[in-house]
Amino acid sequence: AASLPTTYTIRALRKSDYSIGFLDVLRVLTTVGDITEEEWNGRYDWMTTQGKGGYYLLVVEDQGRIVATGALLVERKFIHHLGLVGHIEDIAVAKDQQGKKLGLKLIQALDFIAEKVGCYKCILDCSEANEGFYVKCGYKRAGLEMAHYY
Ligand code: ACO
Repeated sequence: AASLPTTYTIRALRKSDYSIGFLDVLRVLTTVGDITEEEWNGRYDWMTTQGKGGYYLLVVEDQGRIVATGALLVERKFIHHLGLVGHIEDIAVAKDQQGKKLGLKLIQALDFIAEKVGCYKCILDCSEANEGFYVKCGYKRAGLEMAHYY
């Protein structure tokens, strides 16, 4: 696969990404709200220190600005002999950066981690409008999403 444009780096989320646009990138997905730095720190610490991992958040940085992000959650099961299932969540590419293969690179990187940590599959939910993107990433339609909002 081709690499990212030279000024782009894909790496793990850092606490300091609060200041360089991480939350703004997520706003292409849905509402984020006004998250204070203290709130950010609390959630960041919980995700990266409690429960010994399980959360893998990646970002793409371009010249000091976050331009894309994606997450993998590793679920530990009893079935399939203590099987691990990867859940791909919150894939977001800044509006002006879409169509440059950043989304594809993020999915490839998350898939790589999932396979490496021993997941037997990765699953995700998406809209019909995004199906073609995930098909290009090697995913196929499976099952049906149900939701119960509170
Ligand atoms: N439908 C069909 N094909 C698509 C779509 C789409 N909606 N989006 C991209 N593609 C294709 C591209 O044309 C490209 O094909 P090619 O290899 O033949 O040229 C391939 O998929 C890879 O595209 P990328 O350039 O990597 O796509 P991008 O970086 O723009 O990321 C994404 C795609 C994540 C959907 C981005 O547009 C985005 O952030 N959208 C808004 C937020 C969103 O909907 N996120 C996904 C929510 S679902 C979830 O998080 C589990």
